[in-house]
Amino acid sequence: MKLLALLGGLLLPAVSLAANSTFLNPVLPGWHSDPSCLYHKASSTFFCATSTFIAFPGIPIYASKDLINWKLVSHVWNRESQLPGQSWNTTGQMDGMYAPTLRFHDEKFWVVCEYIGDGGGGQILTGLVGVLFWTTDPYSDASWSDPVIFYPNKIDPDLFWDSSDNKNPYVATQSVILQQLDLQSGNLTPQPALSLWNGTGGVWPEGPHLYKKDGYYYLMIAEGGTALNHAIMISRARNITGPYEPYANNPILTNRKTREYFQTVGHGDLFQDGAGNWWGMCLATRGGPDWKVYPMGREAVLFPVTWEEGQWPVLQPVRGRMSGWPSLPAPSKDIPGNGPFNGDPDVYDFVTAGEPIPRNLMYWRVPRPGAITTTAKGLQLVPSRNNVTGQMIPGKPTPELSGQRGMAFIGRRQTDTLFEYTVDLVGFRPGMVGSEAGVTVFLTQLNHIDLGVAMLADREMSFRFRIEAPPGAPVPETKVVPVPEAWRGQTIRLHVTTPNTTHYDLSASLTSDPASKITVGTAWAGLVSGGTGPFTGVLLGIFNTCNGAGQGEECPDGGDKAYWQRWRYTGKGQEIAMNEVV
Ligand SMILES: *[C@@H]1O[C@H](CO)[C@@H](O)[C@H](O)[C@H]1NC(C)=O
Ligand SMILES: *[C@@H]1O[C@H](CO)[C@@H](O)[C@H](O)[C@H]1NC(C)=O
Ligand SMILES: *[C@@H]1O[C@H](CO)[C@@H](O)[C@H](O)[C@H]1NC(C)=O
Ligand SMILES: *[C@@H]1O[C@H](CO)[C@@H](O)[C@H](O)[C@H]1NC(C)=O
Ligand SMILES: *[C@@H]1O[C@H](CO)[C@@H](O)[C@H](O)[C@H]1NC(C)=O
Ligand SMILES: *[C@@H]1O[C@H](CO)[C@@H](O)[C@H](O)[C@H]1NC(C)=O
Repeated sequence: MKLLALLGGLLLPAVSLAANSTFLNPVLPGWHSDPSCLYHKASSTFFCATSTFIAFPGIPIYASKDLINWKLVSHVWNRESQLPGQSWNTTGQMDGMYAPTLRFHDEKFWVVCEYIGDGGGGQILTGLVGVLFWTTDPYSDASWSDPVIFYPNKIDPDLFWDSSDNKNPYVATQSVILQQLDLQSGNLTPQPALSLWNGTGGVWPEGPHLYKKDGYYYLMIAEGGTALNHAIMISRARNITGPYEPYANNPILTNRKTREYFQTVGHGDLFQDGAGNWWGMCLATRGGPDWKVYPMGREAVLFPVTWEEGQWPVLQPVRGRMSGWPSLPAPSKDIPGNGPFNGDPDVYDFVTAGEPIPRNLMYWRVPRPGAITTTAKGLQLVPSRNNVTGQMIPGKPTPELSGQRGMAFIGRRQTDTLFEYTVDLVGFRPGMVGSEAGVTVFLTQLNHIDLGVAMLADREMSFRFRIEAPPGAPVPETKVVPVPEAWRGQTIRLHVTTPNTTHYDLSASLTSDPASKITVGTAWAGLVSGGTGPFTGVLLGIFNTCNGAGQGEECPDGGDKAYWQRWRYTGKGQEIAMNEVV
């Protein structure tokens, strides 16, 4: 009896070790579409890359020891010289860097991606452009190589080195087709590509990833389109070229035709942790089956995977609150590099000249040189002639920027359902008609909610609350409110807050008098969900413009510069199931 009791006592800890782990999705909240991830054994670290389309810097690399705390450690596309001229000449809102694949091979981290320009407009590279980058140090922007350029026929390139040969990697792309890529020349062979698998009949078999396990090549794809029908399908073959046998129980992961709050589940990647357990990451949108309010767009979610020898993988369905086997790696934030973790608030004072711009702040395309700089007076924005809508070109569906050279805008992802974002505009005195500096809830140039401090045609310094949304959207009236006399030339705090899970309040106060706060406008988050930004998610940020005044590339006399200080973003709550906020 004594021995049994002793054994029981010894067994208890083992039982609790084996307990299922619990975590909350999304693990990478905010706009993080198309995650591709790996586990780097030598440093016991997971890495993920996600899509950024025309935002810049592009293709963030997140690193984690525990799959929950992710640190933003670099951007693969981080300098204009990697793709000279390309960014400004990319006009479409959903063009740019699509669906990267991140892999480790031969002591290097590799990222393959597809850059989509609009195919016209005289840019250097047109149509579908494959870009392959590598680094030995994923914690350094500068170490990411210039790209090897190649010309695939389809989007969403995978990268797969077959362990049984050391030749050029295989690149499977949308449809699903297969070629091999010469790493030096960018040549793809054979031409035309081999057809591997057309999926199970849904639209857009895409986002392929190949895995080799137990003598099989597994081909996992996204199918059904990236909206409510999105799903993950799998097939396998003994030979990489096929024939691929589809799994009888496809899809292996989806939330379609469910009432789940997490919808559009799909486009994922699988990887193994240090203990040999399998995991997956994919994208999802938090919008419920009605799918009207999901301003954070496509976010990255984590799910456990069971994959027995010779068997098909079993992916645990995506929910906000996950519980299951295997247990997570031990919590740790021991990650090198100087970027923020995904859950960190922004506390940026911007009072030091020349300090680097925080890694989690993004532009819409490469900014003009000198447009956004840190100075002792604040983060300086030199106004662009383009406002955040930009210039509409007759006959073109989306506005472009190249004629007026760039857009003075910088923002961060909305990463929480409920949050508070404030930033101080220091001593702004717009002199010319059209001058405006403000905050914006920005999805695309055609979907944004703005609160500006502007000089309008009546030559009165005013707050202007204004929404840009596609025709037919229930857009509230533009509101213009004179800036109180005593506030003019003072430091004014602009606020974007969430009174509840479906609305934004845009407010202003005199920084020296918090009680002076006035809410200028309230907007429905459905106005920045989907629309012209089906692949992106909201960025919260600031802009400075002269609203097209003058001619050429600059505002008249350089325009009225704006200085910004005390940038704060704090998460206040995540909706993880319909009407459940934690
Ligand atoms: C960008 O587009 C403009 C307008 O079409 C064209 O004049 C210019 O040459 C292009 N720039 C590059 C670098 O291709
Ligand atoms: C996929 O469909 C195309 C077009 O119908 C066809 O040519 C190709 O053989 C199919 N591929 C496979 C693997 O069945
Ligand atoms: C795999 O397929 C290729 C192309 O059809 C063929 O040349 C090769 O012999 C096959 N390999 C095996 C092991 O069946
Ligand atoms: C742990 O998770 C697995 C599914 O991954 C489930 O079958 C099992 O019942 C769970 N165990 C407990 C104790 O919750
Ligand atoms: C959310 O807040 C907005 C703005 O205050 C309000 O119009 C709306 O009715 C609120 N929604 C709910 C469900 O309370
Ligand atoms: C934005 O700029 C364009 C010119 O580039 C102008 O036509 C438009 O009126 C501006 N929008 C606002 C709200 O001032």
